[in-house]
Amino acid sequence: MSAAASAAENANCNSGAAPQRSSPVAGKSSEAPGDKHQGVPPPPYSMDSALGGHPMPLYQPHAPAPGAVIDPDMIEDHISFLRTVRAFHHYKRQAMAAREMRRTNFRKLQDQHRDLLCIDLDKILDKYLECIEVNSTFFDAICEASEELFDSYWPEGTTVRMEEVPPPTPLDMDKVFSTLRQFVRDWSAEGVAERDCVYKPILDTLERCFPSRSERENVRVLIPGAGLCRLSVELALRGFFAQANEFSYHMLIAGHYIQNHVFESCQHRIYPYSDSTCNLVNRADQFAEVQIPDLCASEAIDALRDEGLSFGQLSMVAGDFTEVYAKPHQQKTWSVVATCFFIDTAHNIIEYLEIIYNLLVPGGYWVNVGPLLYHFADSADDMSIELSLGEVLTVAQRIGFVLNGPPTFIDTTYTNNQRSMKQLVYRCAFFVLQRPLTDTREKNHKQGGTEVKTI
Ligand SMILES: C[S@@+](CC[C@H](N)C(=O)[O-])C[C@H]1O[C@@H](n2cnc3c(N)ncnc32)[C@H](O)[C@@H]1O
Repeated sequence: MSAAASAAENANCNSGAAPQRSSPVAGKSSEAPGDKHQGVPPPPYSMDSALGGHPMPLYQPHAPAPGAVIDPDMIEDHISFLRTVRAFHHYKRQAMAAREMRRTNFRKLQDQHRDLLCIDLDKILDKYLECIEVNSTFFDAICEASEELFDSYWPEGTTVRMEEVPPPTPLDMDKVFSTLRQFVRDWSAEGVAERDCVYKPILDTLERCFPSRSERENVRVLIPGAGLCRLSVELALRGFFAQANEFSYHMLIAGHYIQNHVFESCQHRIYPYSDSTCNLVNRADQFAEVQIPDLCASEAIDALRDEGLSFGQLSMVAGDFTEVYAKPHQQKTWSVVATCFFIDTAHNIIEYLEIIYNLLVPGGYWVNVGPLLYHFADSADDMSIELSLGEVLTVAQRIGFVLNGPPTFIDTTYTNNQRSMKQLVYRCAFFVLQRPLTDTREKNHKQGGTEVKTI
């Protein structure tokens, strides 16, 4: 089996059943502000069909075999998946509309101001167009590969026809644009600094806790909210059994592509900043090119094999963490839960802490890096419990965790554009907690609050 095929098989294993059956990735997931860390205004939303006609037709998901019965509860998930595919497909039209709007605004300048500005507008617009086209080709490849993912989730097919799928929402489109930035973070050389800040402490901790590489295949590491899955791939490359969990179809579809359908490093170039026109230092920064991936999973697996080392195991499970991993059969089955920029996605962080504790085998570790931005804090319609770090650690200890030393702080960015005049730095908490060999819930219950020293 080729490395890529094995990666594809693993990525599709999804704990056996099609994930959405038990835990829909739909509806609610597309509302989750997974991009809250972005801070990048997307281009103005447009469904204008007059711009940027698209040459590549979208696939039609396969219809069920005669007599096959489709679970009606799945239809909403099929629609959400296909709506996300439509959103990726719609990128060109949306980006072209934004370009057109900017062109029109520049053209409104009086001659005198245009003379003062002294730029070759046509040249800039040509470059802008080229960037959109290259990004669009990349998204088309992602859309094409998504058919395989759809079939793996729903091998029985669907009664949903592409024509019935509603157009992408503005939020769907925002996430398409931010997916480009997510690729820079996880899969480009430009993302190394960001990754080193947050993934490296997790990887170093696990390598220290589990020094024997040959035994790591039995060390089951769960990565909830895995994004585009670089951390899970890095863990499997170090020999661990790594399972990524995601509920955003944008991340699942794009992550599936980069792990299973890219066969050499730097196969693609993308222009992640071409649609951002604020905080530019130089015009050229808008058109900065980024090559992805800096590491090709199948090439890396082959290189390991050449060295006589084995790849661990890699899987990606779609679904809401609180649904998939609260199931009784998951309890005490994970050696490690590694969370990176994840715990603040909770409506109720206490629920996350309880689930993580229950997932761990006695002696298992929870390793966390991230801020407490609380994605639902500003939403009037969603529950949101916003605890301080000290409160998080107190609750964790009352649940039964033991803190392996005080938390430390790591200053880092998230999907940052290094060239931009806007730089948003998070002071992330890094901590390691352990489920003791025997539960100490009662003892910890008597402890007072946790005071965290920040300076
Ligand atoms: C801020 S991003 C972090 C992604 C990745 N860990 C990283 O560091 O780049 C949070 C991710 O968690 C995912 N997410 C949020 N709530 C989730 C849930 N309940 N179940 C599964 N994934 C979730 C979002 O879709 C998003 O991709």
